[in-house]
Amino acid sequence: MKGIILAGGTATRLFPLTATTSKQLLPVYDRQMIFYPLNTLIKAGIKEILMIVAPEHSGQFLNLLGSVLKKYGVHLIFEVQKVPRGLAEAFVLGENFIGKSNACLVLGDNIFENDFSKEIRNFRSGGQVFAKKVADPERFGVVKFDKNGKALKIVEKPAQWISDYAVTGLYVYDNRVVEFAKSLKPSARGEIEITDLNNIYLKKGELKVKVFEGEWLDAGTFDSLLAAGNVVKEKQLYKNFHPIIDQAIKEFNCELKDICRKKLF
Ligand code: TTP
Repeated sequence: MKGIILAGGTATRLFPLTATTSKQLLPVYDRQMIFYPLNTLIKAGIKEILMIVAPEHSGQFLNLLGSVLKKYGVHLIFEVQKVPRGLAEAFVLGENFIGKSNACLVLGDNIFENDFSKEIRNFRSGGQVFAKKVADPERFGVVKFDKNGKALKIVEKPAQWISDYAVTGLYVYDNRVVEFAKSLKPSARGEIEITDLNNIYLKKGELKVKVFEGEWLDAGTFDSLLAAGNVVKEKQLYKNFHPIIDQAIKEFNCELKDICRKKLF
């Protein structure tokens, strides 16, 4: 299994904060947001990770993550997405990186309380997504279930209510995902939609949808960013980090302190 983190985008809803840095480098309580999706992958044992970033922020990502993880066997590869063409483009940009492997994508602004390592490690074929009941389903890809809990269809930002279950920003697919993503046509909003990709697997009867209860934070607006920081603090989610990440953060901080100290003389 190879991992991809989508950390590009324009983050217009967080302007002007994102005029100077990337959304995924903004703080969520005591650390940068990007450590959360990174933790989701590292906890699941994924050691080859493609970071897809916007060109204007690529240097900042490299500065934060470029050297601290590789000594623990985690290899980060950086790819620039010049224009945000949609979530499914991750698999087109990631074609060479994915090679013959399966792929797990996590959105760079998604924070999960649950640990999905078991599902990711046990994944064999088809697709696996994770759905959560939300108050505002019209903002997301929404999954409709039959009365036995079988997923029937997924609709992107439905204008008419179909269900309260949003598909969250963690997706696991087999290697066919690259070909399926390359076959997609842009939607009316000009994006290659991950919902279309999910529907390909769903129509083949090969998409598993796991409903979960724990916190899911999509820190893309001022309110959700603030809420994310508060939930992380109250529920002490910062304690759920893999030791490799905690150590990397400590080392990065020490390096900074060292640089600051040296500058005094
Ligand atoms: P969004 O929140 O849908 O988009 P955005 O981050 O550009 O924000 P806004 O709607 O406020 O303009 O993106 C979800 C995540 O996926 C986020 O981490 C950015 C990332 N992303 C990309 O890296 N490339 C893309 O083409 C898109 C659409 C999103």
